[in-house]
Amino acid sequence: MLSSTTLRHACTPTYFAAWRDAARQFLAASVAPHDIDWLDARDAGQGLFGGSAQTPETLSSPAARAGHMVVSPALLELLRLASCHDAHDRWALLYRVLWRWTHGEREAALAADADGARLHQMVKAVRREIHHLHAYVRFRERGEALDGPRFVAWFEPAHDVLQDAAPHFLHRMGKLSWLIATPRGSVACDGDALHFGPAMPRPADDEDAGEKLWLTYYRNTFNPARVNVEVMRGHMPVRFWKNLPEAPLIPAMSVAAQTGARRAGQSRDVEEKVGSGAGRRVNISAGRAQPVRPDAHLLDACRRCDLWRTATRGVPGTGPDNARILIVGEQPGDQEDLQGQPFVGPAGEVLDHAMQLAGLSREAVFLTNAVKHFKWELRGKRRLHKTPGQREIMACHHWLEQELATHPAKVIVALGATALKAVLQIREVALGEVLGQALEHAGRHVVPTYHPSYVLRLREASEKTAAGERIVAALRLAMELAGPAVAAPVARRERPSS
Ligand code: URA
Repeated sequence: MLSSTTLRHACTPTYFAAWRDAARQFLAASVAPHDIDWLDARDAGQGLFGGSAQTPETLSSPAARAGHMVVSPALLELLRLASCHDAHDRWALLYRVLWRWTHGEREAALAADADGARLHQMVKAVRREIHHLHAYVRFRERGEALDGPRFVAWFEPAHDVLQDAAPHFLHRMGKLSWLIATPRGSVACDGDALHFGPAMPRPADDEDAGEKLWLTYYRNTFNPARVNVEVMRGHMPVRFWKNLPEAPLIPAMSVAAQTGARRAGQSRDVEEKVGSGAGRRVNISAGRAQPVRPDAHLLDACRRCDLWRTATRGVPGTGPDNARILIVGEQPGDQEDLQGQPFVGPAGEVLDHAMQLAGLSREAVFLTNAVKHFKWELRGKRRLHKTPGQREIMACHHWLEQELATHPAKVIVALGATALKAVLQIREVALGEVLGQALEHAGRHVVPTYHPSYVLRLREASEKTAAGERIVAALRLAMELAGPAVAAPVARRERPSS
């Protein structure tokens, strides 16, 4: 069954649609796979049937020409994706699978079958290439004054993936105008809709302002401690390196990593100086490599995930630059989203109370969240909190990382599992097993505890009290680890009332 929805996403709409129409007619006329010579347009310089032994038009029966086939949507999608593969025999393989499938050999579409295995391998390669395009496209800014798109990128995909890959950039680039040019076709966006166009020549290699900015950014955020060239090659095939503006920087930086910078765990642009205390060496920024602390403006422009669409604003962290304790929550709630400040709603009240009991001044800590935009769903007239997904946590880690880099806090208090996963950069965590312990991570102490909202959700007063006490205890431990400077002169009470 061919649905218009399926075809709307066709990778090479013209060719796949042409193949499908032809295949339908060949099938109806019982033309076996070995009787068709499928020619690829790029080889024949003409349509798909330029050199075929038969064309749909040469089939005599009108019934055949009006052919009808019923194919499952899953198979159709497999065939469509496989048709984006660069293999020269793709059209013949597609027809062979279709022929066998419609003649009762359903295994033709399964990975255990020789044809099916090939089909699945091709689909996998196409999907991987879509991911490559998402990951390795680098836009260069052309300046607002110039006509045409503001951002331009060049990419050389191994398969015809532009149609499937392009919608991702609609979300990522928001209202900006951009163009991705490839030798297989191009796609432009005027800020609203995608426009597919012809293949384009590789643009000149002139360095422009956008690229300079990107290189500076890349240099400054590069952490040689994380460099593993083999892993990098695995994740980023070398064929992409030539089109990545940052690629020429990688060899030098990875050598630097192996000759000492790795031990320091710092960018080369972050220099080491002898500190004042008893022969200890401290790393201080040389000024060229300042990470960017996200402010409301930067977060509002963020398109790393989709949460910006429904949130009022991005909520950056707040607190002194020299805070020795950094408290990480999950994400802004309804009030935080409206006011643009972290922990100003009901969960903030619980946290304030716990801090007061611990003797910790709010002014002495840096408060932030793992995810900077409010994720919610509407229930009646209320915007109810929704837990952020792994994708959103990972996307937003960029900002948390910048905040961590701009704050020398020795101690991080992670409120709840989301915060802990974000700080430790892990996918799964059993919060109950590490509650209140001091974990060592990247040269800091990380103290996991309950999220204040958990206290709010508990029904039993005794449970609320116990959970609140765990938070207070975690804050006290953080203060001990951070040293006395963060203690606030507040009266202590024994138990939190929640
Ligand atoms: N919950 C959080 O995790 N953070 C806030 O800022 C508010 C509620």
